Amino acid sequence: MALPNTVRLFEMGARDGLQNESGPIIDTRIKVELINRLSDTGLSHIEAASFVSPKWVPQMGDAAAVMTEITRQPGVTYAALTPNLKGLEAAMAAGVEEVAVFGAASEAFTQKNINCSIQESLARFAPVIELAQANHIRVRGYVSTVMGCPYEGEIDPAQVAAVSRELFDMGCYEISLGDTIGVGTPLKAKRMLEAVSQQVPIEKLAAHFHDTYGQALANLYAVIEEGIAVIDASVAGLGGCPYAKGASGNVATEDVLYMLNGLGIKTGVDLTKLAQTGHWISSQLGRTSGSKVALAMGCH
Ligand code: HMG
Ligand code: MG
Repeated sequence: MALPNTVRLFEMGARDGLQNESGPIIDTRIKVELINRLSDTGLSHIEAASFVSPKWVPQMGDAAAVMTEITRQPGVTYAALTPNLKGLEAAMAAGVEEVAVFGAASEAFTQKNINCSIQESLARFAPVIELAQANHIRVRGYVSTVMGCPYEGEIDPAQVAAVSRELFDMGCYEISLGDTIGVGTPLKAKRMLEAVSQQVPIEKLAAHFHDTYGQALANLYAVIEEGIAVIDASVAGLGGCPYAKGASGNVATEDVLYMLNGLGIKTGVDLTKLAQTGHWISSQLGRTSGSKVALAMGCH
């Protein structure tokens, strides 16, 4: 298949990136400034917060403040995770225009992440999707562990396809396929996508690859070749906890953008501004950027 002319980048840094930060809670003003800076790079989709239990994910405890304090740019969608009705109601009160429910292809991961079975999670998502749609709020669906699970190991692509289909049929406008622990390799990514795209149209699918094993760019190229045109990525490769084996950030947005630019695929995003933003947030967190491209460009 020919490569796409354009790819939509969905920026994850402020949510997937910051949710795992160990150490002190990051100041709301830093999160807001990060999102505002990202809004100036040409990105059209930014995941900004997560309305989950602060006992489970303390770093996202200020989701409502973040969502109300950011400066919204026209043409930019600011999304948030909502695992249940409580989360959706809080997100709606904070003026969120797009939300996401998040499930997984693995029973064990679903239990660890959201404290229920896959079937219970789908039953929990149904009223979330219904209420969101009644309020003209778009709902994205995540499926985690699509290429492997930290608790169950191998995951059958048919199981990924089945959960993706359920979420799509329930009304999610797009299904984001998460290689949560970055264990995939290109052929595996293609096989997984082959199974899922038989159940959900490929133009309704996104790739959400963590870079734990350094395979994310290769895997992305493999799925772009198959027709994927939406990519989740995290500025400076933010994410992951240095003490948790298997947890690492999403592939760095700058690195994905450099590759897409080289392929002549348009995104509308400015690489220099993005790399500067990655440098800025990395210095706020007291480290160098996790993007090789940003480092090569002198952002350190
Ligand atoms: P639970 O304990 O089963 O829920 O957790 P519960 O309904 O029994 O409530 C327990 C307590 O949490 C109660 O408070 C609730 O009020 C509160 P208490 O009475 O004990 O004081 N609570 C909430 N508070 C704020 N906002 C809410 C909310 N819901 C309940 N929305 C629950 C179930 C889903 C809440 C919990 O398991 C949870 O918050 N999990 C979140 C896990 C998470 O955020 N993981 C990271 C995001 S997913 C991800 O990163 C993967 C992804 O990037 C894709 C990939 O890479 O694969 C998307
Ligand atoms: Mg993730």
